[in-house]
Amino acid sequence: MLSCKYYIAMANTLLAVLHRAASVGWVYDGIQLLAGAGVVRRRLRPYYADCRGRVLDIGGGTGSVGQLLPAGCVYLCLDNELPKLEMLLRKALGIPLLADGTRIPIRSGSIDFVTCNAVSHHLASNDFEAMLSETARVLKPAGAFIFVDAVRKPSRLPGRILWALDRGSYPKSSLELRRAVERHFQVEKWDRIAFYHEYVAGVCRKAQTS
Ligand SMILES: C[S@@+](CC[C@H](N)C(=O)[O-])C[C@H]1O[C@@H](n2cnc3c(N)ncnc32)[C@H](O)[C@@H]1O
Repeated sequence: MLSCKYYIAMANTLLAVLHRAASVGWVYDGIQLLAGAGVVRRRLRPYYADCRGRVLDIGGGTGSVGQLLPAGCVYLCLDNELPKLEMLLRKALGIPLLADGTRIPIRSGSIDFVTCNAVSHHLASNDFEAMLSETARVLKPAGAFIFVDAVRKPSRLPGRILWALDRGSYPKSSLELRRAVERHFQVEKWDRIAFYHEYVAGVCRKAQTS
């Protein structure tokens, strides 16, 4: 009879294969569709309605947030995985930028809107902090930061299942996320959206220095 250890090893191998495959653009888009990302994205559209000028999407993947932007925005999609940016190019959704979101190769104070959607759970606390600091640096003084991610909420079963399958190893609670964001920004809005996971959607401004 096969032991419990064998099944655990099999499950871990399958998960590792799934995670590797998820870096391929079309596989990633398919997984997102199954996880309900399309529904969540439609609910997020109003948060992007005021965007204009240069919009930087940190960890933008295949550029799905680009589809939510009003016409006329210059959409810069930054990601550290080339296959996803290749998919973005095929979809002709925006300008790809292969880089690390914790070290953004963009001039300070040159971006009108920064967004970061479903990325913070991929970042350890120190990298998340670095990403927020870089976001504040590249934003224009009157710019806004639109932050979205699913949160860690153990009481929510669908969320627990999705986190167990997710490639991101650092899910954070809504409070942890808000505290980190507030170290760099004034939070104007901090909404909760629920679909399988619970998400937070925040609209933030650069903190005023007196
Ligand atoms: C769950 S996906 C979200 C993609 C996209 N924002 C969306 O909503 O469909 C997370 C993305 O963050 C990217 N990512 C993770 N760590 C990163 C980092 N340090 N710098 C840039 N991108 C990163 C991954 O490559 C992946 O495309």
